[in-house]
Amino acid sequence: MSKPAPSYRIAPSILSADFARLGDEVKNVIAAGADWIHFDVMDNHYVPNLTFGPMICQALKPHAKTAAGVAVPVDVHLMVQPVDALAAAFADAGADYISFHPDASAHVHRSIQAIKAKGCKAGLVFNPAASMDVLDWVIDDLDLILIMSVNPGFGGQSFIDSALRKIEAARKRIDASGRDIRLEVDGGIKTDNIRRVADAGADTFVAGSAIFGKPDYKAVVEAMRTALAG
Ligand code: DX5
Ligand code: ZN
Repeated sequence: MSKPAPSYRIAPSILSADFARLGDEVKNVIAAGADWIHFDVMDNHYVPNLTFGPMICQALKPHAKTAAGVAVPVDVHLMVQPVDALAAAFADAGADYISFHPDASAHVHRSIQAIKAKGCKAGLVFNPAASMDVLDWVIDDLDLILIMSVNPGFGGQSFIDSALRKIEAARKRIDASGRDIRLEVDGGIKTDNIRRVADAGADTFVAGSAIFGKPDYKAVVEAMRTALAG
């Protein structure tokens, strides 16, 4: 029996949006067809950059819906150390998914449970050189696995090809688990490589500069969907 076609999600990263108009940017990119809003939280400690905190997430949450009023998931990617206090604050600020880097938490299992106890979906994020062995112990508790295809900290970097092997390995683990876990990829995703990334097994695609760097967000999102369908 052949497997059903994956349901792809495109998650624009507002890291590359116009910060002076963030509410409008969220609305516009949803009107352009975004499935999720990806929210990159950087602390100038775990990564060498500083972005936005839970107050901004809370302010944007009411804008994360379609024109018909359907909520669009807010996908919070924590690049912070330690994890737990900020994860709780983002849950209170309206995050739907909260992902963190296992090397940033002293107690990975506890951090996952704390996110889930807040009613959010939990994800683990793997840097380009990070091992995924921790999945041996926690995959049954996860809703999302996020593979970094750049080193975290900045938008606009080039896709690191070894991420494709890591996506394939993560896909095998997810299929073996039999669980409904999203496999998301973050960094350097463009219209001309998204198909290769999907072929490796990803179903959810973060794209920052590829979308916000162009005047017509809808054209980019549609070109990505066309590439995924092709
Ligand atoms: C990097 C961030 C990414 C970044 C992706 O640390 O996690 O989400 O915004 O940006 P692009 O798509 O420009 O590589
Ligand atoms: Zn991200």
